[in-house]
Amino acid sequence: MATSKPSKEKRTAPSDDSLSAWSGFYKKHVFERQQILARVRGLDEDDVALLNKEGPLPLSTADTITENVIGTFALPFSVAPYFLVNGKEYAVPMVIEEPSVVAAASNAAKMAREKGGFITKYSGSIMTGQIQIMKVADAKAAASKLTLEREAVLAEAREVGKFLEVFGGSVQGMAARSAIGPTGPMLIVEFTVDVKDAMGANMVNTIMERMAPLLEKRTGGKARLRILTNLSMNRIVSASACWSAQSLGGEEAVDAILDAWAFAMADPFRRATHHKGIMNGMDAVALATGNDWRAVEAGAHSYAAIKGASITTYRKNADGDLEGTITLPLAVGTVGGSMKANPCAALGQKILGAKSSEELAGVMASVGLAQNLADLKALSTEGIQAGHMRLHARHIAAVAGANPQELDRVVEWMSANKKVDANGAKEALAELRSK
Ligand code: HMG
Repeated sequence: MATSKPSKEKRTAPSDDSLSAWSGFYKKHVFERQQILARVRGLDEDDVALLNKEGPLPLSTADTITENVIGTFALPFSVAPYFLVNGKEYAVPMVIEEPSVVAAASNAAKMAREKGGFITKYSGSIMTGQIQIMKVADAKAAASKLTLEREAVLAEAREVGKFLEVFGGSVQGMAARSAIGPTGPMLIVEFTVDVKDAMGANMVNTIMERMAPLLEKRTGGKARLRILTNLSMNRIVSASACWSAQSLGGEEAVDAILDAWAFAMADPFRRATHHKGIMNGMDAVALATGNDWRAVEAGAHSYAAIKGASITTYRKNADGDLEGTITLPLAVGTVGGSMKANPCAALGQKILGAKSSEELAGVMASVGLAQNLADLKALSTEGIQAGHMRLHARHIAAVAGANPQELDRVVEWMSANKKVDANGAKEALAELRSK
């Protein structure tokens, strides 16, 4: 029952010559890859020297982490202090290039301390894996049959997932349902798996792949996809905090922040940017701790789409202070993934000091909430550009050629003259140096 129409667009393959440089590229040594790239893309000696510059992640290690490696790519490694989460102090590692994100998170975390900081809740490290089965005679009936056989199927899943026992994990549940897609009906079988302190993707995927042939046998169908879902509805974290009206700038500021949040609740276009701001902070922590920020993003945005609402909520309490909460699925780990391979990720974990997935998720959610509060405060009061551009000005000044001794004075000049751009920086430098 294929419904997609064949494309009428004419496509022609390029000549084989353009492929020859890349054939077997992945099997070559990093230095050979650099030479090929230099030839094809016209890189000069300085470009290749930059690719070879040793950073904290050795080239040889990078080459084992992913494919077709030609160098390493550095980003600023920062910490956001002042986070008080469930009564524990954190300096949160963040890897991000965007100015004012770290400042904003620290600022909101500092203001939250007055009312006790952040309190978090976690539903447990339960991931869900999915197996798609096609070509079953009656998908609905097959789902009902599997539901009746649930205990037997679960016993098989526990057997194939025995390797989880080493660290206390286990297969927890099974559910089957049918759905109809553009290529016909399908049976979807889902398993919930307690992955403890790992992100858990590899574990879940392994179990799904081992279970697929067993389910084919039971249903007579053909297993297609066998993979986790990043919308981990059984791995939900929430973080709450209270900001005094005084710290936010008074009652009018509290009302302005509530209106800013209401905009995200009412309008999907605003909601996209609202969540982008939250993810600025959460992705930065994910990167710094060696976690998969794409998975974090996928979960958060899918969750928001299902709810049709912001993942943060705010309300004014009886004292006129602002209470905020963030709730989202969050699959992050303190073990596994790139944590062992990348020394910077291991260092990020050490700086944070979270001992479990639950602790890490709680801090990350707190950063997301802090980020959102700071964004909404800035947006609804002085406007984002003032604070953001003040911090961005340092970067602009450095690009314009200001040395470390000149930076602050160039930034001051640009702010005072309301010329926070490349020309302003050049003008400021010229004036400063002429004196
Ligand atoms: P401020 O009130 O002028 O800060 O805010 P302050 O000078 O009073 O300092 C308060 C604390 O903030 C400091 O405490 C620091 O912790 C921190 P202290 O250490 O002094 O005791 N802080 C800084 N930390 C590091 N470097 C700095 C720095 N300055 C203050 N230079 C601030 C200034 C920029 C924090 C404020 O204006 C703010 O929170 N702005 C929001 C900026 C922001 O959210 N940027 C994100 C990028 S914009 C974006 O893409 C997302 C967005 O589109 C999302 C959305 O639409 O929802 C906005």
